[in-house]
Amino acid sequence: MRLFVNVDHVATLRQARRTVEPDPLTAALLAEKAGAHGITVHLREDRRHIQDDDVRRIRQAITTPLNLEMAAVEEMVEFARAVRPYQVSLVPEKRQEITTEGGLDVRGQFDHLRQVKERLSPLGIRFSLFVDPDFDQIDAAARLQADSIEINTGQYSELSDPGAIEQERVKICSAASRAQERGLKVFAGHGLNLANVRAIAAVPQIEELNIGHSLVARAVYTGFERAVSEMLEAVESVE
Ligand code: PXP
Repeated sequence: MRLFVNVDHVATLRQARRTVEPDPLTAALLAEKAGAHGITVHLREDRRHIQDDDVRRIRQAITTPLNLEMAAVEEMVEFARAVRPYQVSLVPEKRQEITTEGGLDVRGQFDHLRQVKERLSPLGIRFSLFVDPDFDQIDAAARLQADSIEINTGQYSELSDPGAIEQERVKICSAASRAQERGLKVFAGHGLNLANVRAIAAVPQIEELNIGHSLVARAVYTGFERAVSEMLEAVESVE
């Protein structure tokens, strides 16, 4: 199992002040130091967190693969062609949404996605599609000859009823098997945290997880005491 760490929300915090910290690049380097297998960033069309220059700086500085999440639009395709990340993960994007709300309609957008693939794959950029655990979408991704799919675990993560969680887990397992049978590599992500990740990590076909928000949230808790202590020390050292 590989862990790709999404550093978007480090940039969210920086953008709250339009300043230089916290820097998602610093977070990416710390994630690598901790053993992360790759770094993920989502360059949204509204640039609400990650900025173009963050992607370039992270691409230059990290030693693990960079996974660029983006919408399948011309501007982003051009950007990806210039930056050449290890992998592009296409996601649906709505400007009003707080976060990615569901998987791609690969079947409905088949021709468009094929054109996008034709502009990325020849450059050696791996082509991944974020999809719901839905056989129709997985079969369409296989027909498109995507390298991989990322199964959307957003629904799984939002549920609280144990029976419903189990049902969704089974759906994810079936989707993962279906994708592997059709020659796709299988990744998963969205909404995963320390409490719900184990059942997903246990799905044998899933090779890679993308996790962001819960890591940044946890980092605030684990780091806050030290940050306050350092500040008190500075304040109290004044004669
Ligand atoms: N995978 C995809 C396709 C996403 O859009 C996101 C959120 O940017 C993630 C994974 C990570 O989700 P989270 O931040 O909830 O861990």
